[in-house]
Amino acid sequence: MRQSLVAGNWKMHGSQGMARELVPALVGALRGVEAEIVVCPPFPFLPLASDLLKGSSIALGAQDLHTAESGACTGDVSGPMLRDVGCTWVIVGHSERRAGHDEQDVLVADKALAALRAGLRPIVCVGETARQRESGQALRVVAGQFAALLARLGPGFAESLTLAYEPVWAIGTGVTASPEQAQEMHHRLRAQAESHAQGLGARMRLLYGGSVKAANAAELFGMPDIDGGLIGSASLDAGEFVAICRAAEGMSWNK
Ligand code: PGA
Repeated sequence: MRQSLVAGNWKMHGSQGMARELVPALVGALRGVEAEIVVCPPFPFLPLASDLLKGSSIALGAQDLHTAESGACTGDVSGPMLRDVGCTWVIVGHSERRAGHDEQDVLVADKALAALRAGLRPIVCVGETARQRESGQALRVVAGQFAALLARLGPGFAESLTLAYEPVWAIGTGVTASPEQAQEMHHRLRAQAESHAQGLGARMRLLYGGSVKAANAAELFGMPDIDGGLIGSASLDAGEFVAICRAAEGMSWNK
């Protein structure tokens, strides 16, 4: 059985003041929720968020990490540093980093490996662009991204992986993939995981991301191979995010 998971990616939004309002609101509203919940604020707010989350079941995640444990890497943050401030999760290979920082599949896989070695659970993002989907390449592109990741991680590490299918055309656009489009991709990814290691397909959690809102979450999370979501803009609104987490609640029992 796979427990449902909802992760909020604040991206480069917010302030300490905003964190002081949003995080306690989530802690209060999501007490006892039967889904795993993660919030991923920007680096500067991680220690504050960690304090605000103390005693709650909501976990803390970061949005990126460097492959090295320490070193002459100005501006970067390592896995052990993230652990030190209370993170247990980290997003890796988000399309905004792939596009804006030229992160390629090999680097993404190395970051996932660095996260796992540091004891963090990586949420690795894959997804095709609008042009790739329009030209019928979506399944091939996403399978290629996942294959590159699996090739770099040993089978033991692959077990600890969470994958997020985030079609680039659905991120921040208000256009979400239909539940059927998302399910089709998730089903393929699960089959690919299964052919990599027996049992991995059934165990690996697969999130959908891209314009998930309270209004469409239940329909998406109700699909058999969708185990939750990676949420961008809606994670900045307590009411929206809580409703999305509630939509994930209980979905795991039949998956
Ligand atoms: P969005 O972002 O929910 O704002 O579309 C999702 C993401 O980038 O993870």
